[in-house]
Amino acid sequence: MLIGKLISFDELDSTNKYIKNNLGALESGTIITAKNQTNGYGRKGRVWFNDKDKSLTFSMLVKQNLREDLGLITQLAAVSVLKTLEQYNINVSIKWPNDILINNKKICGILVENIISDDSVSVIIGIGININNKEFDKSIIDKATSLYLETNHRFDVLNIQNVLLEKLEYYYNQYLNNNIEFLDISRSKSCLIGKEIYLENQHETVLVKGIDNLGRLIVVINGLEKVYVGSEISLSNSYRSI
Ligand code: BTN
Repeated sequence: MLIGKLISFDELDSTNKYIKNNLGALESGTIITAKNQTNGYGRKGRVWFNDKDKSLTFSMLVKQNLREDLGLITQLAAVSVLKTLEQYNINVSIKWPNDILINNKKICGILVENIISDDSVSVIIGIGININNKEFDKSIIDKATSLYLETNHRFDVLNIQNVLLEKLEYYYNQYLNNNIEFLDISRSKSCLIGKEIYLENQHETVLVKGIDNLGRLIVVINGLEKVYVGSEISLSNSYRSI
């Protein structure tokens, strides 16, 4: 897969939604960016707050054959963000399935949406990275951070975007070639594996054992192993070593 046309907007309600609304007209590889997003959303319909010009707000469309391992796309996107930030000497961890954290605070959220028709699928990979943000909405003040807040330096948003595109192309091609090296990176940078965490919707504390080759979380509940896809569970914000 090659990175295709890049279309930049000053303002959109949501870059993911723009792709969804224009799916037929957009080719695989298209990237949509917006300097300002007025109605960005995350998993489970959560609001994604945006501060004009200060963050990277971006979605990419890939059209591909339907595969059972679509869950790996969130993992390859997470590893692409991690490797991008490493290039700026920023170390992050991945909170499965889609959060990138620094010091336990969220610096980036990823939302992968799949629109399936027959044996093909349009995958929308939405990524929001907090870059030069100096403040956050009251509701997320304790949970969110930005590169600026962590380092006291301002970063060039377009520069980060270009590195991210390179990494996405690299790891998406790995995925297409059934090379799951990126999954080893996501496992090794996971902040959950080996920890106990509370599953909010199941009202259970579980031990996280790993991530399987389809990108699902492997947990142990009362001595029994179970696997979950991202949409099945809500993880609490805190986890602890055992
Ligand atoms: C999450 O944390 O649950 C995922 C957040 C994803 C936010 C990005 S910003 C670009 C794209 N457009 C959206 O409306 N959402 C994603």
